[in-house]
Amino acid sequence: MSDTYESSRLLDEYLLFHYATADEVLPPDVAWPAAMRDALGFTRRTVSHFSKRSAASALDLGCAVGGSTFEMSRCYEKVIGIDFSHSFINAAETLRLGENISYQRLEEAQLTTKLVAQRPQDTDASRIRFHHGDAMNLPTSLGSFDRVHAANLVCRLPEPLRFLQRLPSLVNPGGELVLATPCTWLAEFTPPQNWPTGSTLDWLHEVLRPDFELQHQCDEPFLIRETARKFQWSRSLVTTWHRK
Ligand SMILES: C[S@@+](CC[C@H](N)C(=O)[O-])C[C@H]1O[C@@H](n2cnc3c(N)ncnc32)[C@H](O)[C@@H]1O
Repeated sequence: MSDTYESSRLLDEYLLFHYATADEVLPPDVAWPAAMRDALGFTRRTVSHFSKRSAASALDLGCAVGGSTFEMSRCYEKVIGIDFSHSFINAAETLRLGENISYQRLEEAQLTTKLVAQRPQDTDASRIRFHHGDAMNLPTSLGSFDRVHAANLVCRLPEPLRFLQRLPSLVNPGGELVLATPCTWLAEFTPPQNWPTGSTLDWLHEVLRPDFELQHQCDEPFLIRETARKFQWSRSLVTTWHRK
């Protein structure tokens, strides 16, 4: 599996993506296009696609540095965040313990700005556990959950079908699943023979339909800042599913 997500550069980018303020991502001295502002807060927006019904347990797969996991702890009594990157999980756990993390925002070349990530306010660390793990090889001892969230994960897996086939046993009957994917299939992460042969949406339907009912689909933009002058603006396809 790719170790892209172990680099210090990606750790800094994801701390910025999950925890920075709007002004830290888009400094106010520049007239940024409105679409860039609208793409902020992705880790909160994907979680907002769950229904407002109360639920006890939740799982955040491919949680990275934990932004959505903290968000889910506002609503659910027990939340587990799992990621394959040791570096991301260590950072998430550091924040859960109430420690701040200093990191660098890259401006250009060797020019950086020091920023600090901290646990989002009004989140309950005692409800959260972070674990290193592989979304394609989750142990049965993990159990099952009322809410499962996997944002921008499926097209980063070598065997995405294996992950999708595990979902029925992870989501409790009557529970909900939110999958977000920008459908950016890359051979670096997924061998082309494991890519969908048609559209990602059709493929999700085909695989999930026996066990899940599609409730809602929409697009959510997101913005990852690489340097002061280079950003990734992407559009994630968000689907919300009800476990039969
Ligand atoms: C594109 S990032 C998305 C992270 C986060 N959900 C977000 O929306 O910002 C993909 C994440 O999936 C994680 N990942 C990749 N392969 C994985 C696997 N087999 N099991 C669990 N996590 C994995 C990466 O470490 C990374 O944190």
